[in-house]
Amino acid sequence: QTPIRIALLGCGVVGGAVATLLTANAADLAARVGRPLQLVGIGVRRLDRDRGLDLDPALFTLDSEELVTRADIVVEVIGGIEPARSLILRAFEHGASVVTANKALLAEDGPTLYAAADAAGVDLYYEAAVAGAIPLLRPLRESLAGDDVTKVLGIVNGTTNYVLDKMDSTGAGFTEAVEAAQALGYAEADPTADVEGFDAAAKAAILASLAFHTRVSAQQVYREGITEVSAADVQAAKDMGCVVKLLAICERSEDGGVGVRVHPAMIPRTHPLAGVREAFNAVFVEADAAGELMFYGRGAGGNPTASAVLGDLVAVARHRVGGGRGPGSPPTPTCPSSTWATR
Ligand code: HSE
Repeated sequence: QTPIRIALLGCGVVGGAVATLLTANAADLAARVGRPLQLVGIGVRRLDRDRGLDLDPALFTLDSEELVTRADIVVEVIGGIEPARSLILRAFEHGASVVTANKALLAEDGPTLYAAADAAGVDLYYEAAVAGAIPLLRPLRESLAGDDVTKVLGIVNGTTNYVLDKMDSTGAGFTEAVEAAQALGYAEADPTADVEGFDAAAKAAILASLAFHTRVSAQQVYREGITEVSAADVQAAKDMGCVVKLLAICERSEDGGVGVRVHPAMIPRTHPLAGVREAFNAVFVEADAAGELMFYGRGAGGNPTASAVLGDLVAVARHRVGGGRGPGSPPTPTCPSSTWATR
């Protein structure tokens, strides 16, 4: 059987886990897809780094532009806008489908990627971009496609949830809690993207776009991070029987508009989201016919994120074998832009 050729772009924590699982589970994946999945190359920025992975050194290449031209499916886990965007567009031009975990790129320039995938008639899947291991985008995109989603609300950033949980459970101040998150590898050396809510806003934009069949960019999301939340605020919330959480809220209003916002909020300790501890994520979805649904799990980390990437890879590979493709791009918005991103 002719293998399906997989190119991996990026070999950090997520890329390393994807490459390891792809290799270790090769026989099972081949059985599930109907054809073998062959890792044909891994595009990296440096060849001399010891990644501690049991992989053939010949797979690694500095020439990602060339690599994407000899793949059927490109898995992009570099992150950031460039060179990820150019490489994904090049992959589409060469007829490859793309699986990506790149929330920043999707939230900033999703329409460009969707249009290119549509023009090429190939798949663009990105389950890992929001809430890591939690199957959330596929349910919104496919399982709930016959229903009307009215609200998506949840905790989509594990780092800030860890920080707020630490402040709540120990009385620590913001800075001390961020340092604890950094020591555990949740927060980056520069924690801005997480603590200022940029990461959650990008995820909220993606969720709103899929939930409401429209296009919302990260810039349209009202955003407030947790840097102003003090130990006194957390204690005051506690005194009122509440806990402070960074929430992403996507709502459809009665006039058809869409409101998308990210901000800290006090929620009662009896609310299910109050029980989301440490760096876990949880998302509520409300739909007309389905009613309330809740999704919970690990939103970050190598293996949890790789699980979502591999699920997408199998779905896309099955299309390569059996024909067809997944859902195309969300339609151009019809709701009045003035009602977007309201507070
Ligand atoms: N920094 C993100 C988080 C990683 O803390 O949730 C996953 O997107």
